[in-house]
Amino acid sequence: MDIMATEGTCVPIVVTVFETAEELDHAAAQWMAERIKAPNPVIGLATGNTPIGMYAHLVAMHKAGKLDFGQCRTFNLDEYVGVLPEADNSFTAYMREHLFDHVNIDPARVHIPRGDALDPEEEARRYEELLNQHGPITAQVLGIGSNAHIGFNEPGTPFERRTHVTRLAEETRKANAAEFGSWENVPEEAITVGIANILESQEVLIMAKGASKAEAVRLTVEEQPTPDVPASALQMHSSVEMFVDREAASRLRADSIVHRR
Ligand code: GLP
Repeated sequence: MDIMATEGTCVPIVVTVFETAEELDHAAAQWMAERIKAPNPVIGLATGNTPIGMYAHLVAMHKAGKLDFGQCRTFNLDEYVGVLPEADNSFTAYMREHLFDHVNIDPARVHIPRGDALDPEEEARRYEELLNQHGPITAQVLGIGSNAHIGFNEPGTPFERRTHVTRLAEETRKANAAEFGSWENVPEEAITVGIANILESQEVLIMAKGASKAEAVRLTVEEQPTPDVPASALQMHSSVEMFVDREAASRLRADSIVHRR
């Protein structure tokens, strides 16, 4: 499959604007469920507030007997350095709370970088190897930071970067303060898959909600790709859908919007 757009060419990101966040969540869960039902699904998962509603719908589909996670393998995008998987503010805890504890996924097929690894650089290499062994990711879901980060790839990260240890922007630490009591307690580093890894996924769904994401969405969709806007790298992938609510779409030109629901 030809996933990457030809070098130097950009493909418009297919933007769908939803009237409400609830409709967005439902459509995102439908998108994801179709990919989970495909043969040998390798699903890339994101954390943050944005996908919580999507996960709730996926859990409901599973409980209704309509979605089987038995064949599913998952790779999370990232984890904070220094955070134990058992800690309440780990991405492992988040994934258990919102998805893993409620569906029939095999724990041996769940992968999240170990934030508590003694050597985070070595852990990034281990995670990269795992991705190469089991990849490619068949369907990757992403949120977006207000500075347009994806995973924890902050502005300035070269598009060629693979899994690595990254230093978090102050803005990112402030956005994630709630789970740590105050922003100064948010770890300064994280392990994240790189933009190159994300671009190797067969299909990508990126979601954004709220006015605080509107400028990041505009830059991602309408401007030339630049490492200053990490999500703009997605223009170099030929199979990206973006689901946004009205607020997150508020700075887009009308001709950037492909569907309205
Ligand atoms: C976090 C995560 C990203 C997430 C983004 C937006 O820091 N590492 O994967 O997409 O920031 O988070 P939220 O959905 O809470 O706005």
